[in-house]
Amino acid sequence: MTFDATAERVSSATFVPHSTPLAIASAEGAYLVTADGRRILDAAGGAIVSNIGHGRREVAEVAAAALERCTYVVPPFATEDRLRLVERLTSSWLPPSLTRVTFTSGGSESVEAALRLARQHHVCAGRPERWKVIGTDLSYHGVSLGALSVANHAPRRAPFEPMLIPFPKTPAPYHTLGSPQAEHPAEALERVILEEGPDTVAAFICEPVVGSAGGALEPVEDFWPRAREICTRHGVLLIADEVMTGFGRTGKRFAVEHFGIEPDILVGGKGLAGGYAPMGGVYASDAVVAPLAAERQDLMFYTFSGHPASCAVADKVLEIMEREELVARAERMGRLLRERLEPLESHPNVAEIRGPGLMVGIEFVKDRNTMERFPVEARFASKLQSAGLRHGVFFYAAGSGPVRDALLIGPPFTINGEDIDLMVEALGAALADTLAT
Ligand SMILES: Cc1ncc(COP(=O)(O)O)c(C=O)c1O
Repeated sequence: MTFDATAERVSSATFVPHSTPLAIASAEGAYLVTADGRRILDAAGGAIVSNIGHGRREVAEVAAAALERCTYVVPPFATEDRLRLVERLTSSWLPPSLTRVTFTSGGSESVEAALRLARQHHVCAGRPERWKVIGTDLSYHGVSLGALSVANHAPRRAPFEPMLIPFPKTPAPYHTLGSPQAEHPAEALERVILEEGPDTVAAFICEPVVGSAGGALEPVEDFWPRAREICTRHGVLLIADEVMTGFGRTGKRFAVEHFGIEPDILVGGKGLAGGYAPMGGVYASDAVVAPLAAERQDLMFYTFSGHPASCAVADKVLEIMEREELVARAERMGRLLRERLEPLESHPNVAEIRGPGLMVGIEFVKDRNTMERFPVEARFASKLQSAGLRHGVFFYAAGSGPVRDALLIGPPFTINGEDIDLMVEALGAALADTLAT
Protein backbone atom coordinates (compact mmCIF):
# COMPACT_ATOMS: atom_id res chain seq x y z
CA MET A 1 0.00 0.00 0.00
CA THR A 2 1.41 3.42 -0.91
CA PHE A 3 1.45 6.12 1.73
CA ASP A 4 1.34 9.74 0.63
CA ALA A 5 2.80 11.26 3.80
CA THR A 6 3.34 14.88 2.79
CA ALA A 7 3.46 17.17 5.82
CA GLU A 8 0.29 18.95 4.72
CA ARG A 9 -1.71 15.74 4.35
CA VAL A 10 -0.48 14.27 7.64
CA SER A 11 -1.20 17.39 9.71
CA SER A 12 -4.66 17.77 8.13
CA ALA A 13 -5.58 14.49 9.78
CA THR A 14 -4.67 15.69 13.29
CA PHE A 15 -7.29 17.53 15.33
CA VAL A 16 -5.13 20.51 16.29
CA PRO A 17 -2.18 20.67 13.92
CA HIS A 18 0.84 22.26 15.59
CA SER A 19 3.71 20.15 14.43
CA THR A 20 3.79 17.43 11.87
CA PRO A 21 3.40 14.13 13.70
CA LEU A 22 5.39 11.15 12.63
CA ALA A 23 3.81 9.23 9.75
CA ILE A 24 4.09 5.49 10.38
CA ALA A 25 3.72 3.20 7.41
CA SER A 26 4.07 -0.13 9.22
CA ALA A 27 5.28 -1.81 12.37
CA GLU A 28 6.86 -5.14 13.07
CA GLY A 29 8.16 -6.67 16.28
CA ALA A 30 9.55 -3.83 18.38
CA TYR A 31 10.06 -1.48 15.39
CA LEU A 32 8.01 1.19 13.65
CA VAL A 33 8.74 2.04 10.03
CA THR A 34 8.13 5.63 8.95
CA ALA A 35 6.64 6.63 5.62
CA ASP A 36 10.13 7.57 4.43
CA GLY A 37 11.50 4.16 5.41
CA ARG A 38 13.26 4.93 8.72
CA ARG A 39 13.15 2.21 11.40
CA ILE A 40 12.34 3.45 14.90
CA LEU A 41 12.63 1.28 17.99
CA ASP A 42 9.32 1.52 19.85
CA ALA A 43 10.81 1.74 23.33
CA ALA A 44 7.48 2.95 24.69
CA GLY A 45 5.32 0.26 23.09
CA GLY A 46 3.17 3.17 21.84
CA ALA A 47 1.64 4.46 25.08
CA ILE A 48 3.04 1.46 27.05
CA VAL A 49 0.62 -0.82 25.20
CA SER A 50 2.42 -3.17 22.80
CA ASN A 51 3.39 -5.98 25.13
CA ILE A 52 3.85 -8.70 22.51
CA GLY A 53 5.22 -6.50 19.73
CA HIS A 54 3.66 -5.44 16.47
CA GLY A 55 2.40 -7.26 13.41
CA ARG A 56 1.71 -10.82 14.53
CA ARG A 57 -0.18 -12.59 11.77
CA GLU A 58 -1.87 -15.14 14.07
CA VAL A 59 -3.56 -12.29 15.97
CA ALA A 60 -4.72 -10.63 12.74
CA GLU A 61 -6.12 -13.98 11.62
CA VAL A 62 -8.27 -14.52 14.71
CA ALA A 63 -9.56 -10.94 14.35
CA ALA A 64 -10.57 -11.58 10.74
CA ALA A 65 -12.24 -14.89 11.61
CA ALA A 66 -14.11 -13.35 14.56
CA LEU A 67 -15.42 -10.46 12.45
CA GLU A 68 -16.72 -12.86 9.85
CA ARG A 69 -18.29 -15.26 12.38
CA CYS A 70 -20.12 -12.71 14.54
CA THR A 71 -19.61 -9.04 13.81
CA TYR A 72 -21.36 -7.47 16.78
CA VAL A 73 -23.89 -8.26 19.50
CA VAL A 74 -25.11 -6.18 22.43
CA PRO A 75 -22.72 -6.66 25.34
CA PRO A 76 -25.10 -8.69 27.57
CA PHE A 77 -25.21 -11.46 24.94
CA ALA A 78 -22.58 -14.18 25.30
CA THR A 79 -20.26 -15.08 22.45
CA GLU A 80 -17.76 -17.93 22.33
CA ASP A 81 -14.90 -15.43 22.03
CA ARG A 82 -15.94 -13.56 25.14
CA LEU A 83 -16.55 -16.68 27.22
CA ARG A 84 -13.15 -18.08 26.29
CA LEU A 85 -11.45 -14.83 27.27
CA VAL A 86 -13.27 -14.66 30.62
CA GLU A 87 -12.27 -18.27 31.32
CA ARG A 88 -8.63 -17.57 30.49
CA LEU A 89 -8.59 -14.42 32.62
CA THR A 90 -10.15 -16.04 35.68
CA SER A 91 -8.18 -19.29 35.44
CA SER A 92 -4.71 -18.00 34.56
CA TRP A 93 -4.35 -14.25 34.97
CA LEU A 94 -6.43 -12.43 37.56
CA PRO A 95 -5.87 -12.48 41.32
CA PRO A 96 -8.00 -15.45 42.51
CA SER A 97 -10.62 -13.39 44.35
CA LEU A 98 -11.46 -11.37 41.19
CA THR A 99 -13.97 -13.71 39.63
CA ARG A 100 -16.32 -11.20 37.96
CA VAL A 101 -15.34 -9.69 34.63
CA THR A 102 -16.77 -6.98 32.41
CA PHE A 103 -15.14 -5.37 29.39
CA THR A 104 -14.74 -1.85 28.04
CA SER A 105 -12.90 -0.23 25.12
CA GLY A 106 -9.97 1.20 27.10
CA GLY A 107 -8.49 2.53 30.31
CA SER A 108 -10.61 5.65 30.92
CA GLU A 109 -13.80 3.69 30.31
CA SER A 110 -12.61 1.03 32.74
CA VAL A 111 -11.87 3.58 35.46
CA GLU A 112 -15.23 5.25 34.88
CA ALA A 113 -17.00 1.87 35.10
CA ALA A 114 -15.11 1.03 38.31
CA LEU A 115 -16.28 4.31 39.89
CA ARG A 116 -19.86 3.48 38.93
CA LEU A 117 -19.47 -0.09 40.18
CA ALA A 118 -18.20 1.10 43.59
CA ARG A 119 -21.13 3.48 43.89
CA GLN A 120 -23.72 0.92 42.76
CA HIS A 121 -22.26 -1.64 45.16
CA HIS A 122 -22.92 0.63 48.13
CA VAL A 123 -26.32 1.86 46.92
CA CYS A 124 -27.53 -1.70 46.35
CA ALA A 125 -26.16 -2.73 49.76
CA GLY A 126 -28.27 -0.02 51.42
CA ARG A 127 -25.49 2.53 51.95
CA PRO A 128 -26.46 5.38 49.58
CA GLU A 129 -24.47 7.91 51.63
CA ARG A 130 -21.20 6.38 50.41
CA TRP A 131 -20.23 8.18 47.20
CA LYS A 132 -16.74 9.64 47.58
CA VAL A 133 -13.83 8.01 45.83
CA ILE A 134 -10.49 9.01 47.33
CA GLY A 135 -7.69 9.46 44.81
CA THR A 136 -4.01 10.32 45.21
CA ASP A 137 -2.39 13.68 44.57
CA LEU A 138 -0.05 12.35 41.85
CA SER A 139 -1.86 10.03 39.50
CA TYR A 140 -3.40 9.59 36.08
CA HIS A 141 -6.57 7.59 35.56
CA GLY A 142 -7.73 8.77 32.13
CA VAL A 143 -9.42 11.62 30.31
CA SER A 144 -13.11 11.16 31.08
CA LEU A 145 -14.40 13.66 33.64
CA GLY A 146 -14.83 11.03 36.36
CA ALA A 147 -11.33 9.70 35.78
CA LEU A 148 -9.90 13.24 35.80
CA SER A 149 -11.79 13.90 39.05
CA VAL A 150 -10.14 11.07 40.97
CA ALA A 151 -6.68 11.81 39.58
CA ASN A 152 -4.14 14.59 39.72
CA HIS A 153 -2.02 14.91 36.62
CA ALA A 154 -1.88 18.69 36.87
CA PRO A 155 -1.52 19.72 33.20
CA ARG A 156 -4.11 17.21 31.99
CA ARG A 157 -6.60 18.17 34.74
CA ALA A 158 -6.24 21.96 35.07
CA PRO A 159 -8.48 23.21 32.20
CA PHE A 160 -11.41 21.10 33.40
CA GLU A 161 -11.22 21.92 37.11
CA PRO A 162 -14.68 23.59 37.43
CA MET A 163 -16.34 20.62 35.73
CA LEU A 164 -14.87 17.97 38.03
CA ILE A 165 -16.38 16.11 40.96
CA PRO A 166 -14.69 17.31 44.19
CA PHE A 167 -13.30 13.96 45.28
CA PRO A 168 -10.85 13.99 48.21
CA LYS A 169 -7.14 13.34 47.63
CA THR A 170 -4.51 11.68 49.76
CA PRO A 171 -0.74 11.99 49.29
CA ALA A 172 0.65 9.63 46.68
CA PRO A 173 2.37 6.72 48.43
CA TYR A 174 5.72 7.18 46.75
CA HIS A 175 9.16 8.43 47.62
CA THR A 176 9.04 11.76 45.81
CA LEU A 177 12.54 13.11 45.43
CA GLY A 178 13.55 16.32 47.13
CA SER A 179 10.40 16.60 49.28
CA PRO A 180 10.42 13.97 52.02
CA GLN A 181 6.99 12.99 53.32
CA ALA A 182 6.30 13.83 56.94
CA GLU A 183 3.39 11.42 57.30
CA HIS A 184 3.38 7.78 56.23
CA PRO A 185 1.06 7.60 53.20
CA ALA A 186 -1.00 4.80 54.78
CA GLU A 187 -1.56 6.96 57.86
CA ALA A 188 -2.48 9.84 55.55
CA LEU A 189 -5.03 7.63 53.77
CA GLU A 190 -6.66 6.69 57.05
CA ARG A 191 -6.64 10.32 58.17
CA VAL A 192 -8.42 11.39 54.96
CA ILE A 193 -11.01 8.61 55.36
CA LEU A 194 -11.68 9.71 58.96
CA GLU A 195 -11.79 13.42 58.04
CA GLU A 196 -14.27 12.76 55.23
CA GLY A 197 -16.31 10.40 57.41
CA PRO A 198 -15.89 6.70 56.58
CA ASP A 199 -19.65 6.37 56.03
CA THR A 200 -19.38 8.71 53.05
CA VAL A 201 -16.45 6.97 51.34
CA ALA A 202 -17.18 4.43 48.63
CA ALA A 203 -13.68 3.57 47.43
CA PHE A 204 -9.99 4.42 47.22
CA ILE A 205 -8.27 4.28 43.80
CA CYS A 206 -4.53 4.14 43.25
CA GLU A 207 -1.96 3.12 40.64
CA PRO A 208 0.39 0.43 41.99
CA VAL A 209 3.25 2.18 40.15
CA VAL A 210 2.54 5.73 38.93
CA GLY A 211 2.87 5.79 35.16
CA SER A 212 2.43 8.90 33.08
CA ALA A 213 1.98 11.28 36.05
CA GLY A 214 5.12 10.09 37.84
CA GLY A 215 7.44 8.23 35.47
CA ALA A 216 7.31 4.78 37.14
CA LEU A 217 7.26 5.92 40.75
CA GLU A 218 7.17 2.93 43.07
CA PRO A 219 5.24 2.94 46.36
CA VAL A 220 6.84 2.82 49.79
CA GLU A 221 7.23 -0.82 50.69
CA ASP A 222 4.41 -1.42 53.16
CA PHE A 223 1.84 0.96 51.67
CA TRP A 224 -0.36 -1.51 49.81
CA PRO A 225 -0.75 -4.10 52.61
CA ARG A 226 -1.55 -1.28 55.02
CA ALA A 227 -3.96 0.39 52.57
CA ARG A 228 -5.66 -3.00 52.09
CA GLU A 229 -6.16 -3.36 55.84
CA ILE A 230 -7.38 0.24 56.28
CA CYS A 231 -9.88 0.00 53.41
CA THR A 232 -11.27 -3.30 54.73
CA ARG A 233 -11.61 -1.92 58.25
CA HIS A 234 -13.55 1.14 57.03
CA GLY A 235 -15.73 -0.66 54.47
CA VAL A 236 -14.00 1.23 51.62
CA LEU A 237 -13.48 -0.62 48.33
CA LEU A 238 -9.87 -0.77 47.16
CA ILE A 239 -9.49 -0.13 43.41
CA ALA A 240 -6.12 -0.86 41.79
CA ASP A 241 -5.67 0.98 38.49
CA GLU A 242 -3.54 -1.48 36.54
CA VAL A 243 -4.25 0.05 33.12
CA MET A 244 -0.51 0.56 32.59
CA THR A 245 0.98 -1.94 35.06
CA GLY A 246 -1.27 -4.91 34.23
CA PHE A 247 -0.72 -7.94 32.03
CA GLY A 248 2.96 -8.48 32.72
CA ARG A 249 4.37 -4.98 32.34
CA THR A 250 6.05 -4.98 35.76
CA GLY A 251 7.35 -8.55 35.51
CA LYS A 252 4.31 -10.04 37.28
CA ARG A 253 0.88 -10.68 35.79
CA PHE A 254 -0.42 -7.74 37.83
CA ALA A 255 1.59 -5.27 39.91
CA VAL A 256 -0.46 -5.95 43.06
CA GLU A 257 1.28 -9.34 43.16
CA HIS A 258 4.47 -7.51 44.15
CA PHE A 259 2.73 -6.39 47.33
CA GLY A 260 0.92 -9.64 48.20
CA ILE A 261 -2.55 -8.10 48.23
CA GLU A 262 -5.75 -8.43 46.23
CA PRO A 263 -7.89 -5.35 45.53
CA ASP A 264 -11.70 -5.43 45.51
CA ILE A 265 -11.72 -4.03 41.97
CA LEU A 266 -8.92 -4.01 39.42
CA VAL A 267 -9.08 -2.02 36.19
CA GLY A 268 -7.02 -2.80 33.11
CA GLY A 269 -6.62 -1.71 29.52
CA LYS A 270 -3.55 -1.26 27.34
CA GLY A 271 -1.75 -4.64 27.60
CA LEU A 272 -4.87 -6.84 27.65
CA ALA A 273 -5.01 -6.83 23.87
CA GLY A 274 -1.48 -5.47 23.43
CA GLY A 275 -2.59 -2.78 20.97
CA TYR A 276 -4.25 -5.25 18.58
CA ALA A 277 -7.73 -4.06 19.66
CA PRO A 278 -9.14 -1.21 21.75
CA MET A 279 -9.92 -3.17 24.87
CA GLY A 280 -10.12 -2.73 28.63
CA GLY A 281 -11.71 -4.51 31.54
CA VAL A 282 -13.05 -4.22 35.07
CA TYR A 283 -12.47 -7.17 37.37
CA ALA A 284 -14.20 -7.50 40.73
CA SER A 285 -14.77 -9.94 43.56
CA ASP A 286 -18.05 -11.78 44.14
CA ALA A 287 -18.54 -9.67 47.26
CA VAL A 288 -18.44 -6.44 45.22
CA VAL A 289 -20.93 -7.64 42.66
CA ALA A 290 -23.29 -9.55 45.02
CA PRO A 291 -25.36 -6.51 46.13
CA LEU A 292 -25.99 -5.56 42.46
CA ALA A 293 -27.05 -9.12 41.66
CA ALA A 294 -29.38 -9.17 44.68
CA GLU A 295 -31.07 -6.02 43.35
CA ARG A 296 -31.13 -7.42 39.79
CA GLN A 297 -28.98 -4.51 38.61
CA ASP A 298 -26.13 -4.65 36.13
CA LEU A 299 -23.42 -2.15 35.33
CA MET A 300 -24.56 -0.16 32.28
CA PHE A 301 -22.45 -1.26 29.34
CA TYR A 302 -20.66 0.73 26.65
CA THR A 303 -21.86 -0.15 23.14
CA PHE A 304 -18.53 -1.77 22.24
CA SER A 305 -17.97 -3.60 25.55
CA GLY A 306 -16.88 -7.18 24.93
CA HIS A 307 -16.76 -6.75 21.16
CA PRO A 308 -16.37 -10.25 19.69
CA ALA A 309 -13.27 -9.42 17.62
CA SER A 310 -11.63 -7.57 20.53
CA CYS A 311 -12.27 -10.56 22.80
CA ALA A 312 -10.85 -12.99 20.23
CA VAL A 313 -7.78 -10.78 19.84
CA ALA A 314 -7.22 -10.38 23.59
CA ASP A 315 -7.56 -14.12 24.10
CA LYS A 316 -4.93 -14.77 21.43
CA VAL A 317 -2.60 -12.09 22.84
CA LEU A 318 -2.78 -13.69 26.29
CA GLU A 319 -2.27 -17.15 24.78
CA ILE A 320 0.92 -15.87 23.11
CA MET A 321 2.09 -14.31 26.37
CA GLU A 322 1.61 -17.69 28.07
CA ARG A 323 3.19 -19.74 25.26
CA GLU A 324 6.27 -17.50 25.01
CA GLU A 325 6.48 -16.90 28.77
CA LEU A 326 6.56 -13.19 28.15
CA VAL A 327 5.79 -12.08 31.71
CA ALA A 328 9.01 -13.74 32.89
CA ARG A 329 10.80 -12.20 29.91
CA ALA A 330 9.56 -8.72 30.90
CA GLU A 331 11.15 -9.26 34.30
CA ARG A 332 14.43 -10.52 32.75
CA MET A 333 14.69 -7.83 30.08
CA GLY A 334 13.76 -5.20 32.68
CA ARG A 335 16.68 -6.30 34.82
CA LEU A 336 19.03 -6.19 31.82
CA LEU A 337 17.77 -2.73 30.86
CA ARG A 338 18.34 -1.46 34.40
CA GLU A 339 21.87 -2.91 34.37
CA ARG A 340 22.72 -1.24 31.07
CA LEU A 341 21.29 2.05 32.31
CA GLU A 342 23.48 1.99 35.41
CA PRO A 343 26.23 4.28 33.99
CA LEU A 344 23.57 6.95 33.47
CA GLU A 345 22.64 6.89 37.16
CA SER A 346 25.47 9.25 38.08
CA HIS A 347 24.74 11.69 35.24
CA PRO A 348 24.44 15.24 36.67
CA ASN A 349 20.95 15.63 35.19
CA VAL A 350 19.53 12.23 36.15
CA ALA A 351 17.67 12.31 39.44
CA GLU A 352 16.65 8.66 39.51
CA ILE A 353 16.17 5.56 37.41
CA ARG A 354 13.39 3.34 38.75
CA GLY A 355 10.53 0.99 38.05
CA PRO A 356 9.82 -2.73 37.99
CA GLY A 357 10.05 -5.05 34.99
CA LEU A 358 9.72 -3.23 31.68
CA MET A 359 8.13 -0.15 33.20
CA VAL A 360 11.26 1.91 33.68
CA GLY A 361 11.24 5.61 34.47
CA ILE A 362 14.09 8.08 34.32
CA GLU A 363 13.62 11.42 36.05
CA PHE A 364 15.68 14.39 34.90
CA VAL A 365 16.61 17.52 36.84
CA LYS A 366 18.65 20.61 36.17
CA ASP A 367 20.94 19.79 39.09
CA ARG A 368 20.93 16.45 40.85
CA ASN A 369 22.71 17.87 43.92
CA THR A 370 19.99 20.40 44.71
CA MET A 371 17.18 18.56 42.87
CA GLU A 372 16.35 21.82 41.10
CA ARG A 373 14.00 21.07 38.19
CA PHE A 374 14.26 22.47 34.68
CA PRO A 375 11.84 25.39 34.16
CA VAL A 376 8.40 24.27 32.93
CA GLU A 377 8.87 26.35 29.75
CA ALA A 378 11.99 24.35 28.89
CA ARG A 379 9.72 21.32 28.19
CA PHE A 380 12.78 19.21 28.81
CA ALA A 381 11.16 15.74 28.70
CA SER A 382 9.25 16.59 25.57
CA LYS A 383 12.40 17.85 23.82
CA LEU A 384 14.24 14.73 24.96
CA GLN A 385 11.51 12.61 23.42
CA SER A 386 11.92 14.43 20.09
CA ALA A 387 15.70 14.05 20.26
CA GLY A 388 15.26 10.33 20.95
CA LEU A 389 13.20 10.02 17.77
CA ARG A 390 16.00 11.66 15.80
CA HIS A 391 18.30 8.97 17.17
CA GLY A 392 15.88 6.22 16.13
CA VAL A 393 14.11 5.45 19.42
CA PHE A 394 10.65 6.39 20.68
CA PHE A 395 10.54 7.12 24.44
CA TYR A 396 7.41 8.27 26.29
CA ALA A 397 7.60 11.71 27.94
CA ALA A 398 6.03 11.58 31.40
CA GLY A 399 5.79 13.50 34.66
CA SER A 400 3.56 16.08 36.34
CA GLY A 401 3.60 18.18 39.51
CA PRO A 402 6.72 17.38 41.55
CA VAL A 403 7.95 14.97 38.87
CA ARG A 404 8.45 17.55 36.17
CA ASP A 405 10.51 15.73 33.57
CA ALA A 406 10.64 11.99 33.12
CA LEU A 407 10.83 9.47 30.34
CA LEU A 408 9.09 6.13 30.48
CA ILE A 409 10.61 3.12 28.78
CA GLY A 410 7.98 0.43 28.21
CA PRO A 411 8.91 -1.61 25.13
CA PRO A 412 7.44 -4.89 23.91
CA PHE A 413 8.51 -7.78 26.14
CA THR A 414 10.06 -9.45 23.09
CA ILE A 415 13.02 -7.03 22.89
CA ASN A 416 16.55 -8.42 23.05
CA GLY A 417 19.95 -7.22 24.28
CA GLU A 418 20.72 -5.40 21.04
CA ASP A 419 17.48 -3.44 21.27
CA ILE A 420 18.41 -2.49 24.82
CA ASP A 421 21.85 -1.32 23.68
CA LEU A 422 20.20 0.83 21.01
CA MET A 423 17.86 2.39 23.59
CA VAL A 424 20.68 3.19 25.99
CA GLU A 425 22.87 4.63 23.23
CA ALA A 426 20.04 6.75 21.80
CA LEU A 427 19.09 7.98 25.24
CA GLY A 428 22.67 9.12 25.95
CA ALA A 429 22.87 10.89 22.59
CA ALA A 430 19.42 12.49 22.97
CA LEU A 431 20.32 13.73 26.44
CA ALA A 432 23.56 15.28 25.18
CA ASP A 433 21.71 16.97 22.29
CA THR A 434 18.93 18.32 24.51
CA LEU A 435 21.35 19.69 27.10
CA ALA A 436 23.33 21.38 24.33
CA THR A 437 20.32 23.35 23.03
C1 LIG B 1 -2.92 4.22 35.04
C2 LIG B 1 -3.77 4.64 33.89
N1 LIG B 1 -5.11 4.66 34.04
C3 LIG B 1 -5.94 5.02 33.03
C4 LIG B 1 -5.43 5.40 31.81
C5 LIG B 1 -6.37 5.81 30.70
O1 LIG B 1 -6.40 4.86 29.71
P1 LIG B 1 -6.89 5.20 28.23
O2 LIG B 1 -5.92 6.19 27.69
O3 LIG B 1 -6.85 3.86 27.53
O4 LIG B 1 -8.27 5.73 28.33
C6 LIG B 1 -4.05 5.40 31.60
C7 LIG B 1 -3.48 5.82 30.31
O5 LIG B 1 -2.34 6.14 30.17
C8 LIG B 1 -3.20 5.00 32.66
O6 LIG B 1 -1.87 4.99 32.53
